[in-house]
Amino acid sequence: MLHGRHILLIMSGGIAAYKAQLLIRLIQRAGGTVQAILTESATEFVSPLTVSALSGRPALTELFDLTQESEIGHIELSRSADLIVVAPATANLLAKLAHGLADDLASTCLLATDTPIMAAPAMNVRMWEAAATRRNMTVLRDDGVIVVGPDEGDMACGEYGPGRMAEPEAILEAIEAHFQGADGAKPLAGRHVIVTSGPTREPIDPVRYISNASSGKQGTAIAEALAAQGARVSFVTGPAEYANPRGCEVIRVTTAREMDAAVGAALPADVAVFCAAVADWHVTNPAQIKIKKDSGGNPPLLDFAPNPDILKRIAALEPGGRPELVIGFAAETGDLEARAREKFAAKGCDWLLANDVSAERGVFGGDATEIVFFDASGHTSWGAMAKTAVAQRLAQKIAAHFR
Ligand code: C5P
Repeated sequence: MLHGRHILLIMSGGIAAYKAQLLIRLIQRAGGTVQAILTESATEFVSPLTVSALSGRPALTELFDLTQESEIGHIELSRSADLIVVAPATANLLAKLAHGLADDLASTCLLATDTPIMAAPAMNVRMWEAAATRRNMTVLRDDGVIVVGPDEGDMACGEYGPGRMAEPEAILEAIEAHFQGADGAKPLAGRHVIVTSGPTREPIDPVRYISNASSGKQGTAIAEALAAQGARVSFVTGPAEYANPRGCEVIRVTTAREMDAAVGAALPADVAVFCAAVADWHVTNPAQIKIKKDSGGNPPLLDFAPNPDILKRIAALEPGGRPELVIGFAAETGDLEARAREKFAAKGCDWLLANDVSAERGVFGGDATEIVFFDASGHTSWGAMAKTAVAQRLAQKIAAHFR
């Protein structure tokens, strides 16, 4: 039920933390993976070592442990998860979440994400019934936090009433129901989409390369929009500033030939969107050592060979191997319509999104663009819009195609 699902499990400090360890096993048995975070007080109840051993990944405890990561660690942590489960969720952590406090790794991850959050409260009955907790729970429910439990029963402190953490089996059921509900109704559920994004880099010598200014913003926005429609997205990206779309499998490549191979390996797919700004040529004789400025007084001679045209190759695949929808982009500097029409014919794709990337328009690296959309029936201007809006519109068109 949870195959391919990655859960960020945040354990806060309560006696129920020992039960949350069973939840790790249950999620794994259902096919999911777990990354655990323990608040400082959770470590009083369970050992990070045990949790690491159970989850198969180092349990994280400290905000500043993450500095070795190239990405901003906590943002990456919470973004890479399909769901964040807080179990047990203490009154204190729930209060922090309700008020947006971020003073440790757990609360920072919760604040730094728009991944859905599920919380299994666990606390003393008086704390659960306190006016402040009730207020906080109303806020959290309004914010979209899915609340599981608490159960009623004998408490570790000797009292009786609501406040016991829901049983791990019940939390697992809620997790499974969440994913079923989240995906079942979505128009692209069960569809596989490949998105290429960013620039490619073609080496000249070990330290120099030929590339372009593609930021990866448009590709990232498209991948996220498609994932939000329920598609499984393989995101093949060159070295770009924006290369971490939420909810997608990210495949990082450097050169055009690597991108071509990665796209081939990701097939079969229902849809392929070619958003990458692929270098047309690569240097056939990249130097093995850094080329020296004074090497004979002459500038170095570089030999070039054409790169594979990935879009063209995939569009030309036989039916059965060819994605049902092959979508290309055209970045032109002037004479947009005529050039895009030629490109649409030459590439053999089903749809083409053309935009003018002349420097004064600030499309490369910017947040907005102006698309002219081509398909077999002609072309339509979408007007100026945010790249995220382009992504939404394209994702909706793809969804409509499969309906
Ligand atoms: O020929 P041009 O580079 O203008 O074509 C742009 C479209 O083709 C984009 O969709 C781009 O991702 C794709 N492309 C590709 N492989 C190449 C060159 C372009 O997939 N080698």
